[in-house]
Amino acid sequence: MTRPAGNPLDLRAWLETARSLGELKDVKGADAKLELGAISELNVKIDAAPALLFDEIKGYPKGFRILTCSTASPARLSSILRLPVERLHHELVQKLRGRPKGWQAEAPKYDPLPVETGPVFENIQSGKDVDINIFPSPLWHEKDGGPYIGTGCCVVTKDFDSDWVNVGTYRVQAFDKNHVGLDMIPGKHGAIQYDKHMKAGKPFPVAIVIGCDPLGYLISGIEVPFGMCEYNYIGAILGEPVQVVQGELTGLPIPAGAEIVLEGYCHPGDVKTEGPFGEFHGYYPGKEGKAPVVTIERVYYRNDPIIVGSPPAKPPNDYSYSKAVMRSSLLFDALLAAGVPDVHSVWAHEIGGARMFNVVAIRQRYAGHARQAGHILNQCGVGAYMSRYSVVVDEDIDPSNLQEVMWAVATRTDPETDIDIIKRGMGSKNDPMFVAYRYNAPFNSKAIIDACRPYDHLHEFPEVAEASKELQAKVREKWKDLF
Ligand SMILES: Cc1cc2nc3c(=O)[nH]c(=O)nc-3n(C[C@H](O)[C@H](O)[C@H](O)COP(=O)(O)O)c2cc1C
Repeated sequence: MTRPAGNPLDLRAWLETARSLGELKDVKGADAKLELGAISELNVKIDAAPALLFDEIKGYPKGFRILTCSTASPARLSSILRLPVERLHHELVQKLRGRPKGWQAEAPKYDPLPVETGPVFENIQSGKDVDINIFPSPLWHEKDGGPYIGTGCCVVTKDFDSDWVNVGTYRVQAFDKNHVGLDMIPGKHGAIQYDKHMKAGKPFPVAIVIGCDPLGYLISGIEVPFGMCEYNYIGAILGEPVQVVQGELTGLPIPAGAEIVLEGYCHPGDVKTEGPFGEFHGYYPGKEGKAPVVTIERVYYRNDPIIVGSPPAKPPNDYSYSKAVMRSSLLFDALLAAGVPDVHSVWAHEIGGARMFNVVAIRQRYAGHARQAGHILNQCGVGAYMSRYSVVVDEDIDPSNLQEVMWAVATRTDPETDIDIIKRGMGSKNDPMFVAYRYNAPFNSKAIIDACRPYDHLHEFPEVAEASKELQAKVREKWKDLF
């Protein structure tokens, strides 16, 4: 039996796809200090925003490039997910339905495939020659604590007492030529592995992939189950394993086609002030904090390397669209897995960073069905972190349409009975409201808004005053020019 060839997660192959879709724009001469971030931020707010490939960045050699906005359209996102290219958002969501569950089930079959070498080893810096300042690390936002070399990155780490390799997206602040800071929120898989090493007084090996096929950070940036390696999950999407080379220093697996990789160790007790940083919910949360320092001992990079940047900011931002699509799909699967019947659709709104304002539409089957769906949406594995509002609506409401959702909230709820509050839920120190809580740890409170018609009064609830679907279709057909 022949083994499949594998996939090195080469970004350049995907860039050609994006170009052929007409969705890649070249930008020359921008300054990595603030300008590049602001251009990307403004770009993503326009309709049909392209991905941006920055070259000739002020003060850096031609060819040292930065890509942003890679996942921000249905066509680009569907191509990254290896689905038939969909230019319409609703079509993409339809195509994605049930896929994450399938990918997760298939993942164990796709262990990464070790290969001898790959383009990532075209250039190697070692020991005292390490200098990450040759790469353009952007200062993305005006009030950031410094330049961030890692945003759309994949941080590869290994468990202390098992073979579990984790790949997570955690921001990476560039401190100096051979030190970076790693912001892993407590509870994230990388943070759990780090804590185990620190408790044992052992250095924590890290390989930071600064740029590869955007499928890399798309998946390392979502909640893949505890104990599962993201490379396996990516392999299931590709239908072939990820080709990896071994880091010379740590032996950690690195995509063979990666653009830049920083390899080194976090040493016990070595932490440093990190941040602040403009976040996905649209704020600089609080002051700077402390983060583990990675001392970099090897740098591998391709000729003319490309950093994949994905700067967060007030939504819509660089990755809020892809997060909304991916998390909505994961939440849908989680509700089904928890046994909630008749779930029509789910939407994790970009305005809440795809975490803080989520809506599920159900067809009510029994008393308590709506609350069950709302509580699980708010508390399931993929949904609990930083969730704030879960809204449950009937199936006549499109959960991705805020106008309709808020109409249901305004007209189908009695606040006294239809809002449940969960206290001391899973929050975050990065929550902009954290400053106002009286907690000593990152708890938050959560509201479940049951905006379904009251189940025990369905038979007498007033009819919606809107032209019926049939009448609308007839009128649209006859009065085409008007609509
Ligand atoms: C562009 C981007 C940046 C992110 N930055 C961070 C970060 O700095 N710290 C963090 O803990 N999570 C961050 N996340 C969210 C995590 O990647 C996400 O929760 C992921 O599930 C973490 O991987 P893990 O489940 O293996 O821990 C970021 C996600 C994206 C897409």
